[in-house]
Amino acid sequence: MFRAHGVVCAVLALTALMFPEWKQIHQKHGVFNELLTNDLQLKRVFLAWGAIRGIMLGFKKSALCMALPVMVLGGVALESPMAKVWLAQGPIQSGHAEVDCAGCHEASPGTIRQQIQANVHYAIRLRPDSADFGKAPVTSETCLNCHERPNERHPIYRFREPRFIEALETVAADTCLGCHTEHRDERVASDMGVCRACHEDLKMKNDPLDQPHVDLVAAQNWGSCLGCHDFHGNHVFEPPRLMAARIPEQQIKAYLRNGPPHYGSRKLYEAKPE
Ligand code: HEC
Ligand code: HEC
Ligand code: HEC
Ligand code: HEC
Ligand code: HEC
Repeated sequence: MFRAHGVVCAVLALTALMFPEWKQIHQKHGVFNELLTNDLQLKRVFLAWGAIRGIMLGFKKSALCMALPVMVLGGVALESPMAKVWLAQGPIQSGHAEVDCAGCHEASPGTIRQQIQANVHYAIRLRPDSADFGKAPVTSETCLNCHERPNERHPIYRFREPRFIEALETVAADTCLGCHTEHRDERVASDMGVCRACHEDLKMKNDPLDQPHVDLVAAQNWGSCLGCHDFHGNHVFEPPRLMAARIPEQQIKAYLRNGPPHYGSRKLYEAKPE
């Protein structure tokens, strides 16, 4: 009885791994409707359920021969690239296609068993938040492991100075994740107008533009800035002097989402792959 239950659960978990349609089936029958508010939740519930049943089976010696292959299969499935993508919240931005999950998600404290337990408790609302599923939070330091570069035009540490407190209320420029995310199929999360938070007082002597910067600022034309300047100054790119020569806003918008770069492909510093 115990064994049969365990096998059914483990098989269910594995099946769930293959067929996201399980969600629809469950929704149709009203099971866990409220719990399974998003895909990730569903996957976690199934994985935790299957894993716990597998482990419990493992302790029943008579069932060990049944449980072992199930656990191994489950482990393999979890480690497979497909499961990794499936576990992830959404598509990785194109620049990170070659970056391993572990490049950003380092192991977090606690045994795997504790983490699974915490996530099950979260799923059944005994815990207010989910435990990191084998992952520590991603921080700016994580990003800088690979993206540290000298001559950065807007280094995040600079904005920890008190004079930027007000600007930081508009955009958290002191952390990478203030402007970037992951798993959302976008390169940059902030909109084109972020420049405004700090450059409203921009004045230039001998402004070289056909429409000087003061005029752009007065007209609140913040959509134009990224058409002539990249943000980090990492592209080998000379800003044009004529408004007509700037990169059109539509192209910049597409670039921020995940589209092709328009500042050219040459960079001062390439990121380290690991
Ligand atoms: C470039 C860094 C980066 C890479 C590579 C990356 N992630 Fe993430 N991941 C993040 C960030 C940042 C978040 C937080 C997202 C947010 O809060 O918007 C996140 C969130 C997650 C979450 C949700 C965590 C939670 O507790 O809610 C999962 C699951 C996840 N990533 C899995 C993966 C998997 C699997 C891979 C490999 C396919 C991967 N990630 C690759 C940066 C990365
Ligand atoms: C394990 C190394 C690694 C980590 C960690 C990492 N990246 Fe990357 N990232 C790369 C590589 C490699 C590329 C592709 C080469 C390049 O564009 O320089 C890249 C590309 C990018 C791009 C797109 C570049 C382009 O021109 O298309 C952005 C934006 C980016 N990373 C932001 C981040 C942020 C934000 C974080 C932290 C959440 C982060 N990266 C963490 C290695 C990493
Ligand atoms: C205030 C917003 C903001 C913050 C904070 C920020 N970025 Fe960006 N980032 C942008 C914008 C806008 C672009 C697109 C313009 C460009 O390519 O420079 C960009 C582009 C990038 C690119 C692709 C171009 C390149 O330089 O290779 C990488 C990589 C990147 N950011 C990494 C980071 C990392 C790492 C951090 C934290 C240390 C960070 N960013 C913090 C706004 C931000
Ligand atoms: C959080 C504040 C902040 C934000 C947001 C910000 N900047 Fe800046 N930017 C600065 C500071 C500070 C400097 C340095 C000015 C100085 O040294 O006098 C600077 C310098 C620059 C420079 C001159 C760099 C050089 O080496 O001469 C350019 C170009 C620039 N920013 C463009 C932008 C653009 C475009 C945006 C929007 C995508 C933007 N900035 C958003 C704070 C910011
Ligand atoms: C038509 C192209 C163009 C547009 C649009 C443009 N800039 Fe510039 N910007 C330039 C050029 C050219 C320079 C001078 C050369 C340089 O410093 O690299 C410059 C210089 C700067 C500087 C350095 C100022 C200094 O005193 O050295 C900052 C900061 C700056 N721009 C911010 C912005 C902001 C913010 C916007 C949006 C309101 C913007 N730019 C729009 C082309 C442009």
